[in-house]
Amino acid sequence: MKTIIEPFKIKSVEPIRFTTKEERKKLIQEAGYNPFFLHAEDVLIDLLTDSGTSAMSSKQWAGIMDGDESYAGSKSFYKFEEAVRKITGMKFIIPTHQGRAAEKILFTVTGGKGKYFPNNTHFDTTRANIEFTGAEAIDLLNETGKHPEIRADFKGNMDVEKLVHFIEKTGAENIPLCMLTITNNSGGGQPVSMQNIREVKQVCNKNNIPLFIDACRFAENAYFIKKREKGYAQKSVLEIAQEMFSYADGITMSAKKDALVNIGGFLAMNDEKLAQSCRNLLIVTEGFTTYGGLAGRDLEAVAQGLEEVLDEHYLQYRIRSIEYLGERLIAAGVPIIEPPGGHAIYIDAKRFLPDIPPEEFPGQAIVCALYIEGGIRSVEIGSVMFGKYDKSGKLIPPPMELVRLAIPRRVYTQSYIDYVAEIILEVFKNKKSLKGFKIVYEAPMLRHFTARFEEIN
Ligand SMILES: Cc1ncc(COP(=O)(O)O)c(C=O)c1O
Repeated sequence: MKTIIEPFKIKSVEPIRFTTKEERKKLIQEAGYNPFFLHAEDVLIDLLTDSGTSAMSSKQWAGIMDGDESYAGSKSFYKFEEAVRKITGMKFIIPTHQGRAAEKILFTVTGGKGKYFPNNTHFDTTRANIEFTGAEAIDLLNETGKHPEIRADFKGNMDVEKLVHFIEKTGAENIPLCMLTITNNSGGGQPVSMQNIREVKQVCNKNNIPLFIDACRFAENAYFIKKREKGYAQKSVLEIAQEMFSYADGITMSAKKDALVNIGGFLAMNDEKLAQSCRNLLIVTEGFTTYGGLAGRDLEAVAQGLEEVLDEHYLQYRIRSIEYLGERLIAAGVPIIEPPGGHAIYIDAKRFLPDIPPEEFPGQAIVCALYIEGGIRSVEIGSVMFGKYDKSGKLIPPPMELVRLAIPRRVYTQSYIDYVAEIILEVFKNKKSLKGFKIVYEAPMLRHFTARFEEIN
């Protein structure tokens, strides 16, 4: 069959609210031109994030009713632990309320001044949690991953040669662990190949550095390996995921992505001593070791979600729906990261708005225009999110200026996606009318969440 249908039926619906263009112009201005300050009910199609926005299945809701809320030793915890262990093989599994809580614990225990943490590309919360301890977060993405227009199968790969040099220069003793983020969210949701995971692990082994995987989108990554990497076509996604994790010494996970839940996460590892230190901190900051900041019912939903996400009909539909949007945009000449990634389309704002320089935040201009034109909420991943200042206060932009349209899992059908494509094309047609922005307020860390902007006239 040519048409790939959603592999589910809709059982419960939530109405969406329509607003006019005039209303949206006012609403985004009142929000300081920052979509994080919009009220969700003023958004028609919410592509701000794929995190915590999944539609849960009837079995997950049934699990919610079945949750065991015992403070210690809840049966829901053991179900969750078994589900995580089946996929990851990890010895010690520590629930947390979301991904950044796992990061906070891991880096508080392992980080500190003088320490360095390489990754293909650190996600914003990962970077922030590392830097918060005084340590440095280092991105070692391969070169093709930095060029939106180059098509390659595994643009999330780490540059292994750069990793080797980095370890030589820095000293392995100053690198408590190395990370791989699969898929690479900040770099276009691009996958990491099994070969790259294996090679990174070999380098880590040689230097006695543990390898941690940021596994938020592990199932999407495993599906790309199945489709694109030689030798994996006949393997199940579960087998591929198991192999990926067999090279890891530990995992951080936001269950809000590929565990198909609205809240949850975990930290997992094989080192008992490290697990003990993490658990001690967990008790201070999250909760007891068998719930870690979650309710028993949330653990049930995660366990069920981890099983459902490995369904290959689901993954086929999931990856295809992103690709479908990408194809429509590419056909109309809209510059995006190619090929489309696993969970989102990333517009290349540099090529979309070549006349607006990074200091005037071209990505933010597109984000605001998409909201005004069609009530679509997206997010800038460029100089607003990752720009730093030099000593003279001049902006040092990141390699790419992107706008991410993240597709929530199992939420929107094809007609929504067609509508999104139409709105993007309309904004693209009128791009000459877009203006740059300046920041009028920013927080010292993770500024994109709370920054306020003014249009430059
Ligand atoms: C790659 C990656 N790591 C970590 C996180 C943080 O997870 P959470 O939002 O659950 O704290 C995210 C969230 O978007 C992510 O995409």
